[in-house]
Amino acid sequence: MLWALSVPMQASVNEVANEPDSVFLFSYADREGNSGLKFAWSPDGKSWFSVADGYEYVKSDFGPWGRAKKMFRPQLMQSRTDGGWCCIWTLSEKGEALGCASSADLLKWGRQSYFPVSERGKHLPADIVPATEGKAVIGGREEYGWMQRAPYATIEQLIRYAEHKKFRQIQNDERMEQDVVRFAGLKPVEATIRVQTSQAKPISEHLIGIFFEDINYSADGGLYAELVQNRDFEYSSRDGSHQGWDNGYAWSVQGDNATLSIATDRPIHANNPHYAVFDLKQPGAALQNDGFDGISLKKGEKYDFSFFARVADGSKGGKMSVRLLDQEGREVAQAMVNVSSKEWKKQKAVLTANADVRAAVLALQPQVAGTYHLDMVSLFPRNTFRGHENGLRADLAQTLADLKPRFVRFPGGCVAHGDGVDNIYDWKGSIGPLEARKPLRNLWGYHQTRGLGYFEYFRFCEDIGAEPVPVLAAGVPCQNSGTCSHHATGELGCNGQQGGIPMEEMGAYVQDILDLIEYANGDARKTVWGKKRAEAGHPKPFNLKYIGIGNEDLITDVFEERFTMIYRAVKEKYPEITVIGTVGPFYEGTDYDEGWELATRLGVPMVDEHYYVAPGWMIHNQDYYDGYDRTKPKVYLGEYAAHLPGRPSNIETALAEALYLTTVERNGDVVSMTSYAPLLAKENHTQWTPDLIYFNNTEVKPTVDYYTQQMFGQNAGSEYVASTVSLSNTQDAVRKRIGVSVVKDEITGDYIVKLVNLLPVEVAAKVKLDDVALVNPSAVKTVLAGNPKDKEAKSVSSVFEVAGNEFPYAMPAYSFTVIRIHQNEPQ
Ligand code: AHR
Repeated sequence: MLWALSVPMQASVNEVANEPDSVFLFSYADREGNSGLKFAWSPDGKSWFSVADGYEYVKSDFGPWGRAKKMFRPQLMQSRTDGGWCCIWTLSEKGEALGCASSADLLKWGRQSYFPVSERGKHLPADIVPATEGKAVIGGREEYGWMQRAPYATIEQLIRYAEHKKFRQIQNDERMEQDVVRFAGLKPVEATIRVQTSQAKPISEHLIGIFFEDINYSADGGLYAELVQNRDFEYSSRDGSHQGWDNGYAWSVQGDNATLSIATDRPIHANNPHYAVFDLKQPGAALQNDGFDGISLKKGEKYDFSFFARVADGSKGGKMSVRLLDQEGREVAQAMVNVSSKEWKKQKAVLTANADVRAAVLALQPQVAGTYHLDMVSLFPRNTFRGHENGLRADLAQTLADLKPRFVRFPGGCVAHGDGVDNIYDWKGSIGPLEARKPLRNLWGYHQTRGLGYFEYFRFCEDIGAEPVPVLAAGVPCQNSGTCSHHATGELGCNGQQGGIPMEEMGAYVQDILDLIEYANGDARKTVWGKKRAEAGHPKPFNLKYIGIGNEDLITDVFEERFTMIYRAVKEKYPEITVIGTVGPFYEGTDYDEGWELATRLGVPMVDEHYYVAPGWMIHNQDYYDGYDRTKPKVYLGEYAAHLPGRPSNIETALAEALYLTTVERNGDVVSMTSYAPLLAKENHTQWTPDLIYFNNTEVKPTVDYYTQQMFGQNAGSEYVASTVSLSNTQDAVRKRIGVSVVKDEITGDYIVKLVNLLPVEVAAKVKLDDVALVNPSAVKTVLAGNPKDKEAKSVSSVFEVAGNEFPYAMPAYSFTVIRIHQNEPQ
């Protein structure tokens, strides 16, 4: 039945002749649950007009990513008392649980909460304006929803808001491929850049860092140099969506009269319960491991082999050959060990490769029949980064070091807060002897040995002179968790996001966080965790200064309670540590607003912002930080990247990021740190693109975006120097595509001029450094340039002559240039 209700009109002043004071407002969502809250309006309750073409004003945030987030049967209610709005919807078709959010104006919505149907009454606003449930035909489709009277001005406001969002979307969608039309006939632009060296402000010295997360096989099979896959026989079908993953994955028996099985009695350690049982009726067969897409070997290089082994009762054991074989089965390296102990015993051997091999295998071949128990079978190149045992792959680690990052964030991202509370990254399980570490299901769909754990992370930071920035869950798992949490039941329990560690377990969780700080900084003899660090080989503290709590979480009551508890505990025990809070996954919206409000209220010193955006967003939001309140928390832009359709990394994304980073440098007094994400991706094992660096077993392939990061990282400053830019063409579209930032490196005294040109024409710049008389004529220029779709461009450095403190420079079309100007020593 369609409505034709008679509801008393609300009095309001009609400002435009022939427009109604009040109309019918209909609120609804798609019947399939796939949309957010939409509106239609009607002058008479019979014919309905969609508001802003079905724009969705609030979406449910409950459940895993994307279409799993459903909104069914939203009921919109207005409070008579304060005019505020509240929307309650069911989370699934079954309707066992509800979601709820409030808004003062129907445009901005507050935090969401989720609860069982039985608690509905608690969430209703007091004194509700009457509304009626029913149907309305909107655009030819019959919809179910709620109808009430509203001033026509409310409809206008809704429309204006959606139009503004659509306008912003059009800006975001601007691409360089449209430049032929956008800039048809554009002549080269002239720019006069005056650098006012007397006007400088201090900026963060930690602006460019990196964020290492085990995504895309970044750790096992990537930065972690271990060459044996599933060395601990702990792979399992629960690790991900992979077909055939089990404890024997990557292992096979070659030859006859032998079997491989998995056992769990008397393991090396309870955290590592499975091991291989290799049963050999007569010598000949070998147990073979394929590595991660094969084991890559370099001629003449040494490889450290080790394993834990014992013989079963009734077997006497004997010699076992350890061999590396190339694709044709030819032996490339060989060593012999002896396995005869009845108890677990660690054996070691060194193998030297006699050839380069792209994809070798490791073969273990007992020389005596019997039953052998094997675990923690490991092979490392001797040549790890800085030569550490259990170290990092040298070429990849060096590529990271070359960025000159001032900090390293770890371990996530989503890996930090995990898929459901039982998957939260427990740092204690990632330290200590390798055989005692707790492997963890990686929420990106694979297995983490955590051989690259907190100790190796802190050591890497120290090696490259970067501050560690560990990020720990705020007692809640990933807001997109798809797994059941261990404490909640029913529909709510089957979404980890709602979980949150039960409050009765939070005390222990908070202690774990405090223990991490002690592990990093505590006295090697007087503290429990400092001692453990010393036992691992590092008596000196790691000098931890920052700790992130939470990762783009939904800011709910569940979150607030836990975050506050952790924050207060850290602040009380370690006031010197800078705690970094979290403000959601976007540059605006509910979590952003609520996160900022909470952090400001609590006095959190810094917050972690995330946004993956189109290049167009970066062009049109260069003033994003200009208006930030300097009295509020500082900003760590912890995850960002320019995303184009198809997700390439090319000149277009790299230059958009460079342009945006010039504005971040300008705001380096409020933005303290930034890190592009994700950092690493192994070819053919990638869950997320784009990434900063791709690699396979033998090659490292930095993207164009890598060079942007490197040019900023290697040319950071401690002071931002004011400059003015005058252009011969003052069109907005032109002006917004030229970026300038000048910083001074206090240590060297160098002035560093960064010039970004996103135009298809050259910009002939004249750079004038005011008040500097002693310029050294020999500067260094580094240029990254190419056509927008170019994925292979690299930065090129050369000497650049600057004649005095005023010099010309032609910024090539589509380019980013850094000019590093040294100052002469005064005579
Ligand atoms: O960087 C990849 C992922 O993006 C991170 O794990 C997560 O925090 C974000 O959603």
